[in-house]
Amino acid sequence: MLVTGASSGIGAGLAEEFARRGAVVGLCARRQDRLAEVLGRCRVHSPESRMWLTDLADAGAVDALAAAALDELGGVDVLVNNAGIPKRRHVTRLDSATVESVMNINYLSPVRLTLALLPAMIERGEGRIINVSSVAATLSSPGESAYDASKAALTAFSEAMAVDLWETGVKVLVVYPGLVDTELFSLPDNDPVLDAPVRPIPVVELVAAVFDALDRNAAQVYVPKWFGEVAAQKAADVGGFLAGSAAFVADQRRQV
Ligand SMILES: NC(=O)c1ccc[n+]([C@@H]2O[C@H](COP(=O)([O-])OP(=O)(O)OC[C@H]3O[C@@H](n4cnc5c(N)ncnc54)[C@H](OP(=O)(O)O)[C@@H]3O)[C@@H](O)[C@H]2O)c1
Repeated sequence: MLVTGASSGIGAGLAEEFARRGAVVGLCARRQDRLAEVLGRCRVHSPESRMWLTDLADAGAVDALAAAALDELGGVDVLVNNAGIPKRRHVTRLDSATVESVMNINYLSPVRLTLALLPAMIERGEGRIINVSSVAATLSSPGESAYDASKAALTAFSEAMAVDLWETGVKVLVVYPGLVDTELFSLPDNDPVLDAPVRPIPVVELVAAVFDALDRNAAQVYVPKWFGEVAAQKAADVGGFLAGSAAFVADQRRQV
């Protein structure tokens, strides 16, 4: 199996749990020291696990990763497209280059990797693709339009792909994390995080929910679950939901 963005946070947590359950895990990310630490923990349970330093912003590197994973792991039965970057920036300060770079890492690279690994999965008649989206995909978090759109694109691609692959034995799971305690919120070049009235959950809680969803063969999982109910409320009254979001942001601005 292959996990992108395995050097920290959700990707590291998922990789370690897959290894603990006996899977040979392939890890990828850019930070060598952090990835090596995660690999060390995976190898305690699964000595054949390995890692590749890959910048997923580079399409050629994505292709090389797919080829190396197929060759060196002897196939990829589970692909976790987890790597991603945040982009908290008000739309009036966004430029096209930024939107493209977010789209490249959060949408185009997982799609490219998926398309490269899919033929072998179909040939084998089984496989799992786990795409880590975000509640931002459905709730359209204010101040994050570029990020929201990249995750919405990944979601739509995943759902259509799930239907296309229905009879093939390849299953697709879309994961919608809410707020998870990771380094995502301290990365530079982002606006400050809004003071949301939601406590971040630990990575282990997200990981447990993903494995539960896999056991149930679910098509999607919101973590925590109640975010799914918020998404349903939004779908029932988009205008009302957006008005509520605007009031929340205005309130935050008044408090600064
Ligand atoms: N934390 C949350 O509340 C939350 C909520 C919704 C969705 N998510 C999604 O969950 C996923 C994991 O994020 P996280 O919260 O665990 O944050 P994180 O700890 O910052 O993890 C992000 C991972 O992506 C990798 N990555 C970023 N850019 C990359 C690139 N160009 N090439 C290769 N790897 C790259 C990072 O590795 P390197 O820096 O070593 O390359 C890191 O391993 C992301 O897709 C994020 O959008 C998180």
